[in-house]
Amino acid sequence: MDLAGKKIVLGLTGGVACYKVAELTRLMTGAGATVQVVMTEAATQFITPVTMQALSGRTVYVNQWDSRVANNMAHIDLTRDADAIVIAPCSTDFLSKLAHGACDDLLSTLCVARPSHVRLFAAPAMNVEMWQNPATQRNARQVEQDGIALLGPAAGAQACGETGMGRMLEPAELLEELVCAFADKPLAGKKILITAGPTFEPIDPVRGITNLSSGKMGYAIARAARHAGATVTLVSGPVALPAPAGVHRINVQTAQQMHDAVMSVVKGQEVFIAVAAVADWRVANASTQKLKKQHGRSVPQLEFEQNPDILATVAALPEAPYCVGFAAESENLIMHGQAKRERKAVPLLVGNLGPQTFGQDTNELVLFDASGHVTLPAGDKQALAQELIVEIGRRLAAAAPAVASIPKPAKEHGKRTA
Ligand code: CTP
Repeated sequence: MDLAGKKIVLGLTGGVACYKVAELTRLMTGAGATVQVVMTEAATQFITPVTMQALSGRTVYVNQWDSRVANNMAHIDLTRDADAIVIAPCSTDFLSKLAHGACDDLLSTLCVARPSHVRLFAAPAMNVEMWQNPATQRNARQVEQDGIALLGPAAGAQACGETGMGRMLEPAELLEELVCAFADKPLAGKKILITAGPTFEPIDPVRGITNLSSGKMGYAIARAARHAGATVTLVSGPVALPAPAGVHRINVQTAQQMHDAVMSVVKGQEVFIAVAAVADWRVANASTQKLKKQHGRSVPQLEFEQNPDILATVAALPEAPYCVGFAAESENLIMHGQAKRERKAVPLLVGNLGPQTFGQDTNELVLFDASGHVTLPAGDKQALAQELIVEIGRRLAAAAPAVASIPKPAKEHGKRTA
């Protein structure tokens, strides 16, 4: 789980976005975090402590004079074993308190009294004019200078009926930012280019040839790479997935478009991971108008021509990034995987037995390199993506060592064959 073992003090301040924080609490506990809720008096006007207590499973604190805490030291005790304080929603008034170090209620005092290892995040939520007010902007700059991470705000329709900057990020977006903030950063500063999803080769304006790739594996790798600190560009075929947060996505349809998009951004990339299921051929005689049934006449005859091999092209560049290929095989994975790695001339190729894993949330990966292959045990695609990213980070750091020299993780790491 993404926040397993993390202890988070969740501070609610006065704002209608408090209703979203009920959902955020569920997401954070679902991700493995222990959530200790602290509310300002104003926040209790928008959502009750009873609701927050039921969702977090812990006593909710509002008052700094609460005698339920030993020695009345809630402002000290509640953060001593915490990993972070997350203020959501963070009102205009509370942002001002953070900027000035005010201590006039339990939550503001907790923030000032937190030890240096406790990270502080704030998710502003306010009316557009309040956000744009020079005093608020000054406070926002000040808290960032003080090492407080602002999450958002976003632009959009507001509860007051106005539109603009000041909406709190959605609960899932806040969770994603927290997960990213806590993740190890083995690829800090690296630039990574990823292809994902299927391609779509038109036959006519309403028909085409595609494949069963859902894009889930490539998107999971893009997300894991961003969590690991990389700047990620994702060139994606048509999929039904939202762009992962913080990832630059370029949408394409055909293999030729995917090739052109990759070649336009590949310069300066340090890693290229080709996860897309690219069509090998396109229809050479695609029709510009919809093909009509012609009764009594023969069926249309499609002619094909070869698409460019994007991975092989990038791997052959004079200053090629570290290239990782993928191969979904329906049989003889070990034989085809190694042969494909050599044919594409890439240092690392990741194989899996498809198409049964297409569209699923789990997968089993086999890594092929010059010295043999190793199996990552079957698991959730996001967890496998993270393992793969850690593995790529290790290889970059060690200038691509052989599989056999990779230290075995504490748990198990599947079958190892040279
Ligand atoms: N690939 C690519 N461009 C292509 C075809 C494939 O970049 N035109 C990449 C895929 O993204 C993947 C790897 O090459 O990383 C292997 O793709 P795959 O379709 O399995 O390989 P092919 O070369 O098409 O081999 P075959 O279809 O014969 O198995």
